[in-house]
Amino acid sequence: MTENKILSGFSKLDQSQKIELLAQRLNLDDTTTECLRSFELSDDRWQTIITDLSENQLSNYHLPFSVAPNFIINKEWHAFPFVTEESSVVAALAKAAGYWAKRGGFHAEILGTEKKGQVHFSWNGQSEKLQKHFSEIKELLIKEAAPITQKMEKRGGGVTNIELLHLPQILKNYYQLDVSFETCDAMGANFINSCLEQFGKSLKSFVMQHDDFQAEEKQLEIIMAILSNYVPDSRVKVWVKCPISALEDDPAKAKQFAEKFVRAVHIAHNDVSRAVTHNKGIFNGIDALAIATGNDYRAIEAGGHAFAAKDGRYRGLSEARIENDQFWFGIEIPLAVGVVGGVTTLHPLAKLAMQILQNPSAKQLMIYLAVAGLASNWSAVRALVTTGIQQGHMKMHLSNILSSFNLTDEQKQAARLYFQDREVSWSEVEKYLKENAGN
Ligand code: MEV
Repeated sequence: MTENKILSGFSKLDQSQKIELLAQRLNLDDTTTECLRSFELSDDRWQTIITDLSENQLSNYHLPFSVAPNFIINKEWHAFPFVTEESSVVAALAKAAGYWAKRGGFHAEILGTEKKGQVHFSWNGQSEKLQKHFSEIKELLIKEAAPITQKMEKRGGGVTNIELLHLPQILKNYYQLDVSFETCDAMGANFINSCLEQFGKSLKSFVMQHDDFQAEEKQLEIIMAILSNYVPDSRVKVWVKCPISALEDDPAKAKQFAEKFVRAVHIAHNDVSRAVTHNKGIFNGIDALAIATGNDYRAIEAGGHAFAAKDGRYRGLSEARIENDQFWFGIEIPLAVGVVGGVTTLHPLAKLAMQILQNPSAKQLMIYLAVAGLASNWSAVRALVTTGIQQGHMKMHLSNILSSFNLTDEQKQAARLYFQDREVSWSEVEKYLKENAGN
């Protein structure tokens, strides 16, 4: 019976007890404890910060902390920190940065910073009646949320708009308070959620206490109050452009490449199968920078994918065109990020990532994320329409394969040289190593 297997009180055990219990239950081998311990930090100050980030922490999970220099954005030089498990991503980003640095760099513009959240509620009454009282309700909401909003208002942010929406097409008696926020340099999740929960309480008490409402109209039910990760009005636009002739040394090749690139982006804009993979390539860059800076990449992804489907059909997020012999490639993408509070100011490497970025504002970080997205998209589509993706991927994959064998640096170097212009596959590497054993 599976019920007999349920572990109760697991979270109350200390770390060693948790490891011991799991090792026993799952028949993990003797090296488990040693392996988990060896990935912990020797400096207790840092380790405590990491341990406290999550429940049931057993060890630390390491990924490379990398950097790609030479991102020129609005004429300024930047180095970007990245954290990703995918071997080819940082190489692709660095390549795109270097390529566009010689062609005017990336151009960027913030299109908005509005964040949203909703109080979802049901109410049994005439919607006109609620609407009639809405200006009074709004006044009360703002007044009663003042202790939460005061600090944010001092920083130049706060609640910027509240609307009442009646949505019977979704659910009978269903309404929303649709609220807009400015959260300045914070991602603002806690601020927004606290405001919304308070708004829910104030709204409920208004209808309960107001004489104009009958007994059944006083039954207002708050279903939930939560921020939305759909932030189409917190948006950034970044682009690159250059004369077609500047794309390649050979002008004929340059024209052919530009046209093929534009066609590839057009396919992603119109075909969902391609759009998903195309956008995945964009998020390769965005996520790696978001993770490095301790930002919530799931929120960024969810908002980005929803925006990709804003006209009822999922599309590629970037656009490319040729106009008067000029090549243009750009992206508009919603991003809600913070540079104060949360993991960004807690995790020692996220803090260092922010220093590498020269401690940007939230608006600057939005731009950097979008640039990383466009850069990784550029490299992926460029490879796809020229050499194919496997050439670059396999070069990086070779390092991973070689790491699985117990090789000296010289042997690895010799293998890299051998596979420089040969197809890389696990079996080919194995065959090569067998034939060259002892060399
Ligand atoms: C692989 O991580 C990402 C790509 O598939 C993106 C793309 O196809 O555009 C190469």
